Amino acid sequence: MLRPLLALLLTGVLMTTAEAATSLDRRIQEAALKVEQKVIACRRDIHQNPELGNREFRTAKLIAEKLKELGIETKTGVAHTGVVGILRGGKPGRVVALRADMDALPVTEEVKVPFASKARTTYNDQEVGVMHACGHDAHVAILLGAAEVLAGMRADLPGTVKFLFQPAEEGAPKGEEGGAELMVKEGALDNPKPDAVFGLHVTSRFPVGTIAYKPGSMMAAVDTLTIQVRGKQTHGAYPWLGVDPIVVSSQIILGLQTIPSRQVDSSVAPSIVTIGMIRGGVRNNIIPDSVDMIGTIRSLDKNMRDEIHTRIRRTAEQIAASAGATAAVTIETGYPIVYNDPAMTERAAPIFKRLAEATVLANAVLGAEDFSFFQEKVPGVFYWLGTRPKNETPEQAASNHSPLFYVDESGLRLGVTSLASVAVEFLSK
Ligand code: NI
Repeated sequence: MLRPLLALLLTGVLMTTAEAATSLDRRIQEAALKVEQKVIACRRDIHQNPELGNREFRTAKLIAEKLKELGIETKTGVAHTGVVGILRGGKPGRVVALRADMDALPVTEEVKVPFASKARTTYNDQEVGVMHACGHDAHVAILLGAAEVLAGMRADLPGTVKFLFQPAEEGAPKGEEGGAELMVKEGALDNPKPDAVFGLHVTSRFPVGTIAYKPGSMMAAVDTLTIQVRGKQTHGAYPWLGVDPIVVSSQIILGLQTIPSRQVDSSVAPSIVTIGMIRGGVRNNIIPDSVDMIGTIRSLDKNMRDEIHTRIRRTAEQIAASAGATAAVTIETGYPIVYNDPAMTERAAPIFKRLAEATVLANAVLGAEDFSFFQEKVPGVFYWLGTRPKNETPEQAASNHSPLFYVDESGLRLGVTSLASVAVEFLSK
C-alpha cells in the first residue's frame, strides 16, 4: 500500500519540473495556432501604416492598447515612441525580455499585395515613400502574438516576461537620439532587470519554416569614418606648385583596403572598410585644397575593432604626410557587435530544432543591429526567422530593405512559438 503511494507522490514531484515545462510548451503551440490569424491581420495593419524611426505614434498606440487589453503593465513614451510591457507570472522565477523593433524605412513599396503601403513622408528634406521593407511590422505582430500566448498562461508562468517594443532601429532622424541605446539609457532594462534577452529578425535569406542561429558574434559592429585630406590648391597643369589631395585620397582609399585584407587576422573574423562617398574639386583643371570622404567600418571581434580604428588613423595620416598633406580622421562608433551568449545559444538550440521545420547554423553577417545594446547589458540571443516563400531561390528573393521585400506570413507562427518557448525555458533555473 505504501509503495504505490510513494511512487504516486514521487511522480507528482517529478511532474512539476520536466513535465510542467512540456505542458507549457504544448499550450504555447496550441495558443499560437489560435492567435495566428490575428498576428497576420496585425502585421498587415502595421504594414499598411508604416512609420519612420521616432515617429511610430500609431504603431505605439496599437501596441499599448493591445498590451493593456491583455492585462499587461504598460509603459509608453520610452525612447520617444517605445513601449515596455511587464507580464508577471503566477509563480516565482527569473525575468526574461523579448524585443521587437517598430520602425519602417524611406522606401516606396513595389510589392503587389492588397495591403501594400501607400504612405509618404518627408525624410532628410526629401519627399519619400514609407515601407516596412525590413519586416519590423512582422516583428511587432509576432511579439504581440507571443504576449497574448504568454498572458494566457500567466498563472503558470514561473517569473516575469518583459516586452520591449523599440523604435528607430534603422537610426534616429538627424539630430535625434533613439533606438535600443536610448531605451537602455531611459531604463527599459531596469525594474525589473532581465536575466536574459531574446529577439529575432525575419529574413529572405532563409525559407519559411527555418530558424537560423549562431553562437558568439552574429552581426557586425558598425562605425562611421570621416576623413578630410588637406593639400594645397594649384593649377591642374602645375601640380608641383601645390599638394594634390585627390591623388592622396586615392592612395588612402587603396591603403585602407589593405587593413582588412593584409593587416588584421582575417582567419579570426572578416572585417570591412568601405568608402561610400568622396567629394573634392569643382573643375577639370583646378587641383582643390581638400577632399572629404565618408565610409563605414564593420567588424565582428572587439579587439579587432579597436585595432582597425588605430590602423585607419595611421594609414590615412601617414600616407597624407608622405605627400606633404594632412588627413584628419574621425571615427564615430555606432552599434556594437550582436554577440550571442554561447551557453544560452546552446540551450535555445533544442527549442529551435523542436519547433522549426529546419534549423541552420548560420554564418556571421557584416550587417548590424542595435539589439546589441541590450546584449551589452544582459546576455541574450538574436536569431533569424526565415520568411522567404519556399518556391523562391535566395537569388530570386528580394532582400531586406528592397522595395520588393516580401514576408511569407505562414512563417509568423514559428516566430510566436519560438519567442514564447525560449522565454518559458529561460524563466526557470
Ligand atoms: Ni531590420
